[in-house]
Amino acid sequence: MMRLSSLGAVVLATVMTASCGGGGGDTPGTTTGGGGVTMVELGRKLFFDTDLSNQGNQSCASCHDPATGFADPRVTASAPVSEGSVTGDFGDRNAPTAAYASFSPQFGVVAAADQTPETNSKYQGGQFLDGRAATLIEQAKGPFLNPVEMNNANEAEVVAKVQNAAYSADFITVFGANAFSDVTTAYNNIATAIAAFEESDEMNPFTSKFDAHLKGTYTLTASERRGKELFEDASVAKCANCHTIGTTPRESLFTNFRYYNIGTPSNPDNPANIANPGFVDQGLGASAAIDPADQAAERGKFKTPTLRNVELTAPYMHNGVYTTLEEVVLHYDIQVANEFITPEVNDPNIAAEMNAGTFVGLNLSDQDRTDLVNFMLTLTDGYL
Ligand code: HEC
Ligand code: HEC
Repeated sequence: MMRLSSLGAVVLATVMTASCGGGGGDTPGTTTGGGGVTMVELGRKLFFDTDLSNQGNQSCASCHDPATGFADPRVTASAPVSEGSVTGDFGDRNAPTAAYASFSPQFGVVAAADQTPETNSKYQGGQFLDGRAATLIEQAKGPFLNPVEMNNANEAEVVAKVQNAAYSADFITVFGANAFSDVTTAYNNIATAIAAFEESDEMNPFTSKFDAHLKGTYTLTASERRGKELFEDASVAKCANCHTIGTTPRESLFTNFRYYNIGTPSNPDNPANIANPGFVDQGLGASAAIDPADQAAERGKFKTPTLRNVELTAPYMHNGVYTTLEEVVLHYDIQVANEFITPEVNDPNIAAEMNAGTFVGLNLSDQDRTDLVNFMLTLTDGYL
């Protein structure tokens, strides 16, 4: 997986709630004069350029393909994590969507007053499932050099590839005549341009049936409406406690960007488990970004994923253990209820965390589960 060995200092600043995250092309300087190419357009070219990998066969989009909600189209139940540029090299996590990731606030500690019992999480924000990259720009520097991903030897190699690319003039247009003279600066600017693309409307379109429903131009079916009510019901399914819904599309990112242990079982089909059957992903607990004193408390926690485009992003969870949304709903309905101790890390899970040990299962009917799934299917972009 994309562990960044050189992540900067731990960011312990208190950050504001997730709704003040970036997204939507607010980046200063996304437009330039001169040749007219924008930073977003340049970032798009970088994001789709397979030449920027070791074997010339992999771009960011290989694992974050627009056709599959900016997640990896190649992963399946039997091969649930992404293969890198070098054939046969796998990470150990299932690629999440890179869409809407720009709204995640910088990694940090949740203000004490904000750490409510319903959504008890000390940390929030950042990029990757364990938040180890504080920002989108830091995140974008990782995959190029990760041996099990794009596998370049060093920053200079990536910069040289951009300098030789058909769009190198665009890079100079956006970043100036000396854009290639310093490797560190150029590498940072490559990441900055990619982040600008990740903040663009193309990656944050808000064009689902759900968005149309909020705007009054789509009427939910009876099943979708019941599913939404269940999803938001704070006494039963509690989905929206973590997969946040607001009154506008931008407030409805379907994540609060906080970290929970929801009892995801380990996946025997994960190459990491095949190589080492005792493999356990400690999630946030093993991240260099947290206070080392918190490691035990944060074990097995992963960042709540957005559910936007979830129809397209199977398999599910950090290790791809579930293949269908029906299975995910059953997980919440039955698995969490019956397994007070998370199978994978042997720590108390969401059931204990959210219900002080009194969780007795959701008792969903078949219809309830179908309704919840149908509601989640309204989150696919491209309707509007
Ligand atoms: C080989 C597949 C692969 C490639 C290539 C790849 N990624 Fe990823 N990406 C992943 C995986 C797997 C994760 C989750 C890793 C983790 O949490 O440890 C991830 C996580 C992310 C995230 C964090 C999303 C979130 O919600 O935290 C973003 C953003 C992202 N990638 C963008 C990019 C960009 C930009 C590039 C190109 C520079 C890229 N990825 C290349 C597989 C890939
Ligand atoms: C306490 C917070 C919390 C609650 C409540 C919650 N979730 Fe989640 N959800 C998470 C976290 C964290 C993950 C990622 C876990 C992992 O990767 O192992 C997740 C993962 C998912 C996924 C998989 C998404 C993907 O891309 O892999 C779906 C679907 C989902 N949740 C739906 C629901 C539904 C439906 C409910 C209500 C029945 C619900 N969640 C309740 C925190 C929560």
